[in-house]
Amino acid sequence: MPLPPGLLLPLLLVLWPPRSAALEPISIGIAIGAASALTGYLSYPGFYCGFVECCPGEQDRPNGTALRLNLDAKLFGQHLAKEVVLKAVTGFINHPNPKKPLTLSLHGWAGTGKNFLSQIIAENVHKAGLKSKFVHLFLSTLHFPHDHLIKMYKDQLQKWIRGNVTACAKSIFIFDEMDKLHPGLIDAIKPFLDYYEQIDGISYRRAIFIFLSNAGGDLITKVALDFWRSGRAREEIQLKDLEPVLSVGVFNNKNSGLWHSSLIDRNLIDYFIPFLPLEYKHVKMCIRAEVESRGNQIDETIVQKVADEMTFFPKEERIYSDKGCKTVQTKLDFY
Ligand SMILES: *[C@@H]1O[C@H](CO)[C@@H](O)[C@H](O)[C@H]1NC(C)=O
Ligand SMILES: *[C@@H]1O[C@H](CO)[C@@H](O)[C@H](O)[C@H]1NC(C)=O
Repeated sequence: MPLPPGLLLPLLLVLWPPRSAALEPISIGIAIGAASALTGYLSYPGFYCGFVECCPGEQDRPNGTALRLNLDAKLFGQHLAKEVVLKAVTGFINHPNPKKPLTLSLHGWAGTGKNFLSQIIAENVHKAGLKSKFVHLFLSTLHFPHDHLIKMYKDQLQKWIRGNVTACAKSIFIFDEMDKLHPGLIDAIKPFLDYYEQIDGISYRRAIFIFLSNAGGDLITKVALDFWRSGRAREEIQLKDLEPVLSVGVFNNKNSGLWHSSLIDRNLIDYFIPFLPLEYKHVKMCIRAEVESRGNQIDETIVQKVADEMTFFPKEERIYSDKGCKTVQTKLDFY
C-alpha cells in the first residue's frame, strides 16, 4: 500500500543522515517547518538542532578534555598560551555566574598561532567554529578601513554586538589587528566588556571577546632570546617573566598604546596571552600537522624541505622563524 504523502516528508527526514553539513539551510527550514506542522517534532530541540545550529544553553558545557587535546594537537611551542587558555576558558565556562564577559588579549608575531588559538576556542564553544553564526570575526583593515566613517562603524558595531548577544548569550567576538583598530571603535566596545549586570535589559556576561595583536611581539621575542642565550629551556619561561614586559611594552608602543591603556586602566582585559616566536622544530610540527590534516602520509624529506625554505632570525643564530608557521600552507601546495 502506498504511503499517504503527509507521512512521506517526516519519514524522509528521519531516514536522512541528520547531521549532514551539505544540506541547504533554506530547504531544511522549509522541510522542518513542514515536518513539524505534521508531527510536532519542532517541540523536541534535540531534533531541531540536528539540522539548524542552535545557541548553546545554560547547561551546555564545552568539554575541557577535548579543549586540552585540541590544543596539544594543533598549537605548537606555546606552553604559556596553552596553560592560560585552559585555565581561563574552562574557568569561565564552568562559572555559574560570571561577573563580566571573558576578555582575552593575544600578543605575538604573525604566524605564532593567535588565529589558531581563537579558532580552537571558538570550536570548543560552537561546533562549527569560525563558521558558526554565533562566532564573529572582525578584521580592522577589512571591516573598518576608513577613518571618516568611524561614526557609522561605531553604531553598526554596537548594534551587531547587541543584536548577536540578544540572539545568543554565548556569542564570541574576535577582533584581529587590534593595533590597527580606531580608538573610537575601542570606545564603542568598552561598555560591553565591563562589569554591568545588564545594559538595556541585555546581559553580556556569557560572551567571549578575543583581541589579537602584534603588540609586544618584539619584547616577547627578546625575552625568549635571552632565555635561549643563557642556555635555559624555552619551557622555563613563565608568565611572570613576560607580564610586566608585555604591559609596559604595549603601553609604550605608539600604535597600540591607546587601546591598551583604556582597556587596561579599567581592568577590562582578564588575561594577557603571550605567543613565543617559533623555532625550527615547531615549524616542522606545523608542517606535519598540515600534511595530516590534508589526509596525506607524512614524508620527512618534504617536511624538511618546506622547513628549510623558511627564513630564521636573528641573523647569527637563526633560531626563530620570521613568519612563524604562517606560510607553511602555501609552501606545502608546491609539493
Ligand atoms: C570529552 O572529550 C573527550 C575526548 O575527546 C571524550 O573522551 C569525552 O567522552 C568527552 N566528554 C563528554 C562529557 O562529552
Ligand atoms: C551579528 O553580527 C554580524 C556581523 O558579524 C552582523 O552582520 C549581523 O547583522 C549581526 N546580527 C544582529 C542580529 O545584529
